[in-house]
Amino acid sequence: MSLDSSNAWRLVSNRTPTAVLISGAGSNMVALIEAAQDTAYPADIQLVISNRPEAAGLRKAEALGVTAICIDHRDFGSRADFEAELDAALKAHNIKFVVCAGFMRVLGKKFVRAWSGKMINIHPSLLPKYKGLHTHKRALESGDREHGCTVHWVSEGVDDGEIIAQSLLNIHANDTEETLASRVQVLEHRLYPKALAEAVTKD
Ligand code: GAR
Repeated sequence: MSLDSSNAWRLVSNRTPTAVLISGAGSNMVALIEAAQDTAYPADIQLVISNRPEAAGLRKAEALGVTAICIDHRDFGSRADFEAELDAALKAHNIKFVVCAGFMRVLGKKFVRAWSGKMINIHPSLLPKYKGLHTHKRALESGDREHGCTVHWVSEGVDDGEIIAQSLLNIHANDTEETLASRVQVLEHRLYPKALAEAVTKD
């Protein structure tokens, strides 16, 4: 909201103030910020937080004009202390919705409960298959014909919340872990902006 006191003119935005949590490259974060550059998009991405200072996504967010900060989990004695700081930063920036995009820290119960119904995640598998790490390798080793990505609500179980949307691809005979990772990321960049728009307008 901005207020021009000279004309007593007020612009009210009903877009949801949203933060993206990252740990690395931030390619999904870039896709989300670009989608949110359209003022008709329902989420307004105002903050990016990385738990790793070296995350390339921090510089990408700044280049796109979004406030980017690091809260390094290694600076805290416990998960609870780290998450208390994360929660305080989100509140200090008046954030109402949280998007995990390659945020590679498991979140504890207290934080997840505090943001319940207001926090989503993207995972590089067709959940409920392959929760956790090495999803592309596991899909190949299992001889799966289909693979993809899932956007879901964050719940107390890891990669376990209610599914919002999925995107699928066919695994090719010559696919490797690397080709699958990049093919799935193309799907992620299309899916996540659509799924966030859906999730943020759900209430
Ligand atoms: C994405 O492929 C995302 O699905 C995955 O990390 C990558 C982050 O890439 N997330 C997880 O594995 C979470 N369990 P990005 O930083 O370029 O968006």
